[in-house]
Amino acid sequence: MSNDETNSVTASWSVGQLARATGLSVRVLRHWEEMGVVAPDRTAGGQRRYGPAQVTRLYRAVALRRAGFGLGQIAALLAERDPDPAATLRTHLAQLEEDLRRRGELRDRLAAALRAYDGNHDSTDGGTAAALMKVIETMTMFEQYVHGYQAQENLRLHDQASTLVDLLHDGTCYPDGSRVLEAGCGVGAQTVTLGSRSPGAQLTSIDKSAASLDEARARVRAAGITNVTFREVDVFSLPRSDGELGAGTFDHVFVCFLLEHLDRPAEALVRLRAMLRPGGTITVIEGDHGSAYFHPDSEAARDAIGCQVTLQRHAGGDAMIGRRLYPLLAAAGYRDVAVSPRVVYADGGNPALADGFIRKTFTAMIEGVREPAVAGGLIEPARFDEGIRDLYRTAEDDGVFCYTFFKGVAVAPAHAER
Ligand SMILES: C[S@@+](CC[C@H](N)C(=O)[O-])C[C@H]1O[C@@H](n2cnc3c(N)ncnc32)[C@H](O)[C@@H]1O
Repeated sequence: MSNDETNSVTASWSVGQLARATGLSVRVLRHWEEMGVVAPDRTAGGQRRYGPAQVTRLYRAVALRRAGFGLGQIAALLAERDPDPAATLRTHLAQLEEDLRRRGELRDRLAAALRAYDGNHDSTDGGTAAALMKVIETMTMFEQYVHGYQAQENLRLHDQASTLVDLLHDGTCYPDGSRVLEAGCGVGAQTVTLGSRSPGAQLTSIDKSAASLDEARARVRAAGITNVTFREVDVFSLPRSDGELGAGTFDHVFVCFLLEHLDRPAEALVRLRAMLRPGGTITVIEGDHGSAYFHPDSEAARDAIGCQVTLQRHAGGDAMIGRRLYPLLAAAGYRDVAVSPRVVYADGGNPALADGFIRKTFTAMIEGVREPAVAGGLIEPARFDEGIRDLYRTAEDDGVFCYTFFKGVAVAPAHAER
């Protein structure tokens, strides 16, 4: 970027110029702005302008991001409002060490697989080498959580939440003074809505990913919400023997897009039931990829969606769990189970929904599995790309897309009934 690209006496750059210079997309820069990392000035016409101070700040933010810091941590460090920078650095170091430990584990597993394979095959054979590549890629693929914890996925979760807020949260509002447990809060996409729609309730939002919790904390702070406490907890470790996460301590439990990732969703629901006082409620929201249909129809698009379903199954989850909510809740010992389908219907008459749901939510999610789907041999790259093109095609003026989420509400029985 050079100064002659600027258009005023005081040097300033547009968001597009910055995106080109940094390699970050305009959407990511806007997300960073929302997260309080770098806030541009605005022209009289409302356009974003970045001056020298903001560019310097962005430079430092990019460097911190490359070093692996979360956006929340970066915002706090840059604003010098991190109460304990040394503690932040220690946490970061611990995260890096955990990352290295996981990579070491993966390296050992791959080496063991290769040794076993070498014992049986001639490694100079090109076919064998290709098969070995597949072993490596497949192991890597299964190692990853199917949606990943990357910035792009975090952004997608926020896009998804803001597009679907009314559809999914309609009917969910918790009374003042009630205690609510949100399980699998991720980057806080639903937490913001829960916290703001039920300002008098006290939320405890848990997730097993420390990095996602960092993002969630920053997000909630930026939204000015103060009734949420975050905890790094695995749902399968609940209930705790006592304390704030002991049995029977909550009036309500809220779960969104968590069960689809679990290999034991039934057990998770039983454990969450134990967290509720008798008469407390659970609300569960899940999607079902089998419910997606669209115009123009496309076999390639269905194949690409099928890759996501298969990968999620290999990772132990179920991308079509929405249809199982009723039987799962009933079998987990809840009473008064009521499940309602929440249909997203997007056509050319509602371009904002077509953009928010078809492009930024659904297709972005399917697009995100390209690498593992191809690496795992589930689909040819060209076929996958054709499917993605066809999905984007359904967001055009004459396209139509339909998808069903399922929202279940149920009640924890009295102890005597359990
Ligand atoms: C798809 S995200 C959904 C996040 C959020 N509820 C939303 O609707 O945007 C699923 C989240 O569940 C978390 N998760 C997966 N398994 C978990 C477990 N056993 N205990 C706690 N959290 C878990 C993941 O870390 C991830 O953040």
